[in-house]
Amino acid sequence: MRGSAPSTLAAGSGVPPLVADRVAKTYDDGRQVVPVITELTFSLSPGEIVSIVGPSGCGKTTLLNVLCGLIPLSAGQVRWYGTPLSGMPPKVGYMLQKDLLFPWRTALANVKLGTEIKKIPAREAEERSRSLFVQLGLAGFENAYPATLSGGMRQRVALARTLINDPDVLLLDEPFASLDFQTKLLIESDTARLARAGHRSMLCITHDIEEAVSLSDRVIVLSSRPTRIKSVYRIDIEGDRTDMMAARESRGFSEYVRCIWRDLEIARH
Ligand SMILES: Nc1ncnc2c1ncn2[C@@H]1O[C@H](COP(=O)(O)OP(=O)(O)O)[C@@H](O)[C@H]1O
Ligand SMILES: [Mg+2]
Repeated sequence: MRGSAPSTLAAGSGVPPLVADRVAKTYDDGRQVVPVITELTFSLSPGEIVSIVGPSGCGKTTLLNVLCGLIPLSAGQVRWYGTPLSGMPPKVGYMLQKDLLFPWRTALANVKLGTEIKKIPAREAEERSRSLFVQLGLAGFENAYPATLSGGMRQRVALARTLINDPDVLLLDEPFASLDFQTKLLIESDTARLARAGHRSMLCITHDIEEAVSLSDRVIVLSSRPTRIKSVYRIDIEGDRTDMMAARESRGFSEYVRCIWRDLEIARH
């Protein structure tokens, strides 16, 4: 099992929701010039789950911020549904390691936030939110404040908030990194289930190789900074792809993990 050359642009059928075309990013504050990303090209297919793994500090968060227009790129182009990015892309949900819930709002009010911004009628917002609470095992905690919830529950609320406006694409930046192993597996499974059932595409940034392999259809391995794509693995494991424990026990899983680990070891030097 070897990672293929990092040359692919489009994979699968249909217009790719997201294309990064020779994207480069250099931070330059006038005093210091920090090249972070060089000539990075990949695409995300409709309904595909892709994870990006790379050494700490290689530029993963920078890449995600560039892809969704939070920071400007230095060269290349980002296209959403075939159109060059301008501003924040539509139909995208973004989830970070920190849950960033408002402490003064109840769990339900935090989830509804996106519907208020989009001016969704109150009744529809209520229905959507309550349905997500049920789907994510949060029923009964609608009126709880974030401080009274466990880390795992807060991340579930954050996931519900990310899904409330029914995004076509989910961008995740290490959202499960601070959770204990068991909680992490359960939330990863829920996230995969909600992404796959809704035919959403998902790009997940992580430093956790096992998470990347169990969750994804494809894993992109980045080199150290200035980062470029080192290898790409199509994850071909059998069984229920929404059950992270089953994925970890499936044939082939540990071989993918070993190969990616080896690539990352090399990437550090
Ligand atoms: N605003 C900034 N100005 C200058 N350098 C930055 C800025 N943000 C991040 N960096 C640097 O860019 C590199 C990549 O950071 P980041 O994208 O956060 O990495 P990762 O998410 O892979 O850990 C790091 O060396 C970091 O210090
Ligand atoms: Mg980061």
